[in-house]
Amino acid sequence: THPSRIALRGDLLDFTADPGWALEAGAAVRWRPDHWLLIDAGRIVGAAPGDQPPGDDWQRIDHRGHLLLPGFIDTHVHAPQLDVIASFGTELLDWLNTYTFPAEQRYADAAEAHDGAERFCDALLAHGTTAAVVFPTVHKVSADTLLAAAHARGMRLVTGKVLMDRHAPPGLMDTVESAERDSRELIARWHGTGRLAYAMTVRFAPTSTEAQLDMAGRFLREVPGLYMQTHVAENRAEVAWVRQLFPDARSYLDVYHRHGLLNERAVLAHGIWLDDTDRRLLADTGAQIAHSPSSNLFLGSGLFGWRALEAVGAQVSVASDVGGGTSLSMTRTLAEAYKVQALLGEKLTAWKALYTATRGAAQALGLDAEIGSFEPGRMADLCVWDWAQGIVGERRMAVARDVHERVFAWMTLADERHLRETWVAGQCAHRRLAQAQSGP
Ligand code: GUN
Ligand code: ZN
Repeated sequence: THPSRIALRGDLLDFTADPGWALEAGAAVRWRPDHWLLIDAGRIVGAAPGDQPPGDDWQRIDHRGHLLLPGFIDTHVHAPQLDVIASFGTELLDWLNTYTFPAEQRYADAAEAHDGAERFCDALLAHGTTAAVVFPTVHKVSADTLLAAAHARGMRLVTGKVLMDRHAPPGLMDTVESAERDSRELIARWHGTGRLAYAMTVRFAPTSTEAQLDMAGRFLREVPGLYMQTHVAENRAEVAWVRQLFPDARSYLDVYHRHGLLNERAVLAHGIWLDDTDRRLLADTGAQIAHSPSSNLFLGSGLFGWRALEAVGAQVSVASDVGGGTSLSMTRTLAEAYKVQALLGEKLTAWKALYTATRGAAQALGLDAEIGSFEPGRMADLCVWDWAQGIVGERRMAVARDVHERVFAWMTLADERHLRETWVAGQCAHRRLAQAQSGP
């Protein structure tokens, strides 16, 4: 066998385009049951029907009866917040002060930051997420160790040290000067290294001075390919606070626009409390909203108007937002997204949901030539999933009448326990322990 050639057999599902909101999605859905996915030198090179295996110069791995999907892309998640996931009883601003800010202060310590980064990257892979846009903490070492951990695993990661120079505990603040110096050093070391990109990471408008927002905007203009990540319009008390802090801005979103922070590589979490002018501004600048349904429900933030954003041409991706969100699992997150849309009278199909968490996110991040689908030339970042685990799932799969019914029930019921293997760049990066396995 050729050392770099690997063929994986299973039920292949990916997307060629945005399937829209209709159940009948046509050629946007690429469903190839029982096929071989062909990988050479870490990239996808094609596919072949199950009864036409590639020759002996391919290493063949048989996952017949299992689902192969592109690796999930989580466009908004906080690495240090694994320590505060599932914390009781608060909305956003109290949640930050009570749980999150104290926990993030631990990452000032290099050993804590290092261990946390390794644990977080392993956890992403163990949940089927191969690419992510991530918040570390304000500490330079937290970004440095996170980028190193992702690099060691070959993962596609976008992150940068958090910028926050006001309205936070002393152990969790930088200054314009220190932030500028740390960002410059981290960019020089990591931006464009392997599969990594740097993001100017404004925590949210309340924790940055106008001078710091200006500094972030300057970096975005000066350094090609930099991303920007932040939060916007998540919670009503937060929105009211921003209105007080920035009386001259037209809206919360406008604070970021005025400082030059909105572009096609800007990722803004939540975007619940926006108006039509905001929605058009997102569409005009190419910035995307990272919809975080699990977090929005858990923190009681509100219901995200996905259709209204898409109606004006703005881009939407889906994110776990752990630790506001309660799971790193993107299938659980998509199941929550379905429920949020149901409360608004909309119906999120499995096609639209899974597209958004794979090729749609890749497209919105400008990374669709690298990740998000099984198109030839893409990196082989993918997962092998059980269709079912346990008596309820087995029965539901057995009685499903068509492919959407089967995939929708899978998406709604599946979590990380359904994950058999995660592959990154053509190498197995996570495998479920043998004793936990069931099925063939
Ligand atoms: N707004 C500012 N910081 C945060 C955070 O850590 N999580 C969430 N959900 N919203 C925020
Ligand atoms: Zn967040």
